[in-house]
Amino acid sequence: MAVLLALCASLYCAVFQPVDTQLYSNRYEGDQVLRIIPSSHEEIQLLHQLFHNVTVDLWQPSSTSLIHVGSLVDVHVGQKKTRHLKACLQLAHIHHEVLIPDVQTEMEKQAGSRSSRKRRSEFQYDYEVYHPLEEIQSWMFEMNRTHPHLVDLFSIGRSYEGRPLYVLKLGNRKRLKKKAMWMDCGAHAREWIGPAFCQWFVREVVNSYQHDSSMRRLMNQLNFYIMPVFNVDGYHYSWKTDRFWRKTRSKNHRYYCRGVDANRNWKVKWCDEGASLHPCDDTYCGPFPESEPEVKAVARFLRKHRKHVKAYISIHAYAQMLLYPYSYKYATIPNFNCVETAAQNAVSALYSAFGVRYRYGPASTTLYVSSGSSIDWAYKNGIPYAFAFELRDTGHYGFLLPETLISATCTETTRAVRAIASGLLHKCTS
Ligand SMILES: *[C@@H]1O[C@H](CO)[C@@H](O)[C@H](O)[C@H]1NC(C)=O
Ligand SMILES: *[C@@H]1O[C@H](CO)[C@@H](O)[C@H](O)[C@H]1NC(C)=O
Ligand SMILES: [Zn+2]
Repeated sequence: MAVLLALCASLYCAVFQPVDTQLYSNRYEGDQVLRIIPSSHEEIQLLHQLFHNVTVDLWQPSSTSLIHVGSLVDVHVGQKKTRHLKACLQLAHIHHEVLIPDVQTEMEKQAGSRSSRKRRSEFQYDYEVYHPLEEIQSWMFEMNRTHPHLVDLFSIGRSYEGRPLYVLKLGNRKRLKKKAMWMDCGAHAREWIGPAFCQWFVREVVNSYQHDSSMRRLMNQLNFYIMPVFNVDGYHYSWKTDRFWRKTRSKNHRYYCRGVDANRNWKVKWCDEGASLHPCDDTYCGPFPESEPEVKAVARFLRKHRKHVKAYISIHAYAQMLLYPYSYKYATIPNFNCVETAAQNAVSALYSAFGVRYRYGPASTTLYVSSGSSIDWAYKNGIPYAFAFELRDTGHYGFLLPETLISATCTETTRAVRAIASGLLHKCTS
């Protein structure tokens, strides 16, 4: 009965209250997300040509140069081009399927269910919806105000468009010299589950501090630096204008295209394989390393605190993977055994929640080669544990992960991050 009622409510909402039909001015109407699986080098050649002729928004992998035989290629295609693209694929017998038949409809369905959720009390923040930047910032101030003994909020600089770059420091203040863990979310604007997770994690920490002795131990012995929204300008833009924006929003003085990939702009093998020199590409590495004020601010902060910071974590989506260095080359890191063990523990802690499997390993071999990434930079700068999470899902919704999956995704990921943090309390000697 309850299910039926809920169903009716959602129908009512969908049929009679087409909320937000003007979402992003309807710009994604008829757009589709396709999954293409090329099975030969000839097919890959053809895809390169096709994607060149029919500009597409590549969801996975992040650049056409990273397409290999058998890899899953998820592309978001504009309404006018889907017919042509599918016809070409069919002619060439290239295997493909439709992941999202209408991007605009999917987004409106999600926005509809959002507005039909019962409003919680004004003072209770809803962690199971995505929030625009202003709300996340108000939430940070509220956390800072209501938990002065555990939380400290400060800014480490300003974004390209002048927004403060806020970081929350969590930890029991009593002890002075403590190890620390850094975690950033939302380096890529369209990966909305990232900021949702950082907020969820902060709530978990402050709420469980009272009754959970293992959390208390973590907070007594560690400081957590949490940056809920790394790429603030891009995140804001993804809410206001282009839901699938990835990069920062910096201007280029020679090209009309804006933005730099915040995960290709770090000073480590900068702009080599898996990064693009072209400002219009989604993996543009920028005019020089740390050209982006957001990257520069975080790099400066981590350099300054490198003695204490023992773990660096960057939250991304999507692929369901836990990645560690190297990204830019196929080689084994010196402390491989320690890092591999930590990854293994994290992934099995994650699995223990709902049985969701994550692949794990060096980023280069597990996902793809990329240069100028934050985990490689953190590692090279002396942070022994550097991880990038690619959260849910594996492409069914991709960047449009519904809000109904926030809770499960964040619950399991919290277990994984806690496992990594707990590991820092023990010395690894292998
Ligand atoms: C791409 O465009 C070029 C030039 O218009 C054309 O010769 C080529 O056949 C096109 N390739 C595909 C795969 O559409
Ligand atoms: C956070 O709270 C502290 C007091 O506990 C205050 O000094 C600090 O300015 C606050 N941070 C921000 C960004 O307002
Ligand atoms: Zn990402």
